[in-house]
Amino acid sequence: MKITMIGTGYVGLVTGACLAEMGNQVICLDIDREKIDSLQAGKLPFYEPGLKELVKRNTQANRLHFTGQYSEAIPGCDICFLALPTPSNQDESCDLSYVEKAAKQLAEIMDNYLVVVNKSTVPVGTSERVKQTIQETLDARGVQIPFDIVSNPEFLREGSAIEDCMQPDRILLGVNQSKAAKIMQELYAPFLERILIMDIPSAELAKYAANAMLAARLSLINDLASLCEKLGANIDAVRDALAHDDRIGPQYLNPGIGFGGSCLPKDMKALRAMAKTHNHPTDFFDSILEINQRQRENFFEKIRSHFDRTKGKTLALWGLSFKPGTDDLREAPSLYFIQKCLVQGISLRL
Ligand SMILES: NC(=O)c1ccc[n+]([C@@H]2O[C@H](COP(=O)([O-])OP(=O)(O)OC[C@H]3O[C@@H](n4cnc5c(N)ncnc54)[C@H](O)[C@@H]3O)[C@@H](O)[C@H]2O)c1
Repeated sequence: MKITMIGTGYVGLVTGACLAEMGNQVICLDIDREKIDSLQAGKLPFYEPGLKELVKRNTQANRLHFTGQYSEAIPGCDICFLALPTPSNQDESCDLSYVEKAAKQLAEIMDNYLVVVNKSTVPVGTSERVKQTIQETLDARGVQIPFDIVSNPEFLREGSAIEDCMQPDRILLGVNQSKAAKIMQELYAPFLERILIMDIPSAELAKYAANAMLAARLSLINDLASLCEKLGANIDAVRDALAHDDRIGPQYLNPGIGFGGSCLPKDMKALRAMAKTHNHPTDFFDSILEINQRQRENFFEKIRSHFDRTKGKTLALWGLSFKPGTDDLREAPSLYFIQKCLVQGISLRL
């Protein structure tokens, strides 16, 4: 199949390369000219285990291409993925401007039936908005070109993104047209038994629900770690006891200095904003985020209170990214720590 990936970041580049590996013709598009230039020169814009080799193999096999031009990427493609940033607005709601803009740009160029698949994490109702944007743009052009919208949220984890993409637990397809469902099932044929088909709002919400579940586990284990210190219990032993319970399991159960990264914090905030908009109580989401913030503060306070005087001290910081196996610094707890240290007059070696 001919696939266009709009947005060549962590999700777009990994997914694009994996879809090329499965035998599709993939063109990755990005407005960041520098990123495209370096990809065309064989350099990756970020580190992800195994990605360099995967991109090289598929570029050499002529299945994976990069461009900065919509006019080169859109005409003639069968499926167009949106893998665009969805950061937080000032009020914590999800900023959909990147998705909206890309939808408009693709509708200005498209010339054949297209399945537009949203991979970005977006609030319920976004697919409907994207559909309207595309339709309005086509109307303004005075053309009638059919298209369908699919919600296909992404669950890859940085650090194990290729494995997650090539061996997914499940693939969610939020779809309301059988033609689009058939095309997507054909694309994901190697994982047919892992496809879950549902209505679009459920698929959109399911991504936030998964991240809320993971964030809740992390905040629970972090809060238990703080309680252990007060009670004289050992959180590693308590964690072991939980991890060996088949109903609970070991994943997302390591205590630490709070979760970070480009997804969990912003998605928890977006979910809270969605709840607020619909007059749904936010106390559950508030607690997850409050505990996460407290965890960072408590860690810094421990370091600060260890010294009689922090001013003039030099500390070494080992491990800056938000988790192992990635060089992604977005919302990394280390950034909070660095800022607090600098304010206290502590020098840092990173
Ligand atoms: N990073 C992850 O681990 C992960 C996992 C699951 C879901 N997601 C979700 O996937 C989405 C993308 O995340 P990401 O980490 O890949 O983001 P990213 O910032 O790494 O990549 C997005 C890319 O889109 C490009 N872009 C912006 N506007 C564009 C436009 N109009 N046309 C073409 N390209 C454009 C940017 O230049 C950037 O390269 C987000 O909604 C995120 O929440 C991310």
